Amino acid sequence: MLSAVVVAIGTAMSAFWILSANSWMHTPAGHEMRDGVAFPVDWWAIVFNPSFPYRIAHMLNASYRTAGFVVLAVSCRYLLKGDHVEEARIMLHMAIGLLVVLAPLQILIGDLHGLNTLKHQPTKVAAMEAHWDSSKPDDFHIFAWPDAKAEKNHFEISIPHGLSLILTHQWNGLIPGLKDVPPNDRPPLVTVFFAFRIMIAIGFFMAAAAVFGAFLWWRGKLFETRWYLLVMAQTWWMGFIAVIAGWVVTESGRQPWLVQGILRTADATSPVIGPAIAVIFALFVVVYSIVFSAGIYFINRLIVKGLDAAAADEPAILLGGTLAAAGKTTKGA
Ligand code: HEM
Repeated sequence: MLSAVVVAIGTAMSAFWILSANSWMHTPAGHEMRDGVAFPVDWWAIVFNPSFPYRIAHMLNASYRTAGFVVLAVSCRYLLKGDHVEEARIMLHMAIGLLVVLAPLQILIGDLHGLNTLKHQPTKVAAMEAHWDSSKPDDFHIFAWPDAKAEKNHFEISIPHGLSLILTHQWNGLIPGLKDVPPNDRPPLVTVFFAFRIMIAIGFFMAAAAVFGAFLWWRGKLFETRWYLLVMAQTWWMGFIAVIAGWVVTESGRQPWLVQGILRTADATSPVIGPAIAVIFALFVVVYSIVFSAGIYFINRLIVKGLDAAAADEPAILLGGTLAAAGKTTKGA
């Protein structure tokens, strides 16, 4: 238990610094430019740059709820199979208890995150929403196919004035559009637009699933509602996909900048020849495909197998237990 807590604190501290550095590249602050080079002048402003508080809150919440959905799905599988029922009930209660708070909270944090992005990186928000014209209020596009060449969207299904209402809280509120910047200053539209929708759709599904689970718990029907357990048993992967989609939005959305307004990605490339990069990239793809497939296979096997009998026994060494008892169990093992 203690090691789990220490790992959780350690990874949160690691996330703090990674996200601070990453956020600085989105919303640089606390520096001054001399001959095209950024020099630090205020470390507080650098570490706590404008997008950092939103990003760390959003990312930590994303990680905890991703883990929460894994626990939720595993507990549902056990309940459906009638395996480890006592443990599964505790797991399900713990997961729902955590997720009913975190999942709706993520929508709120995400909304604030988006408003902050609108202030500092309006072109990214315009790309997320495939919004072209800053002189017109914008609809919220549930679906569209953004066409960068024609500078318009095809097949739009939209909620009229939806985006103006979300981002400005006004019916006719105006938001900067993609046409405000030249075409070579715009991010890859289709990627950002769809990745954003995947993240949001999963976010709303997760929130609805957690709130409904809490409702069933309140009505005393959580363990008996078979269709809910059946659906939830399949959802362990959802958080991972939403996290990847979120990062695709964030990182593709800041293109063509590596450091917003300071350094373009094209100017930051190192003088390594193309084929060398291609070989390294191919190696990454091969190695990670093997590692990820093996990881997914192994995790799935662990879930299917469940707690083995030895692990489910009393712990071998209890705090305050006798040395003799510990020795006996260790020998037995
Ligand atoms: C449902 C409502 C959600 C909203 C309104 C929302 C909003 C946003 C916005 C606006 C960004 C981009 C910020 C930027 O690049 O400046 C973002 C990024 C991100 N989102 Fe979401 N999000 C939601 C749900 C989720 C969910 C469910 C997850 C994962 C479980 C998630 C994980 C992420 C991650 C990992 C990033 C990249 C890191 C970051 O910039 O914070 N989001 N989200």
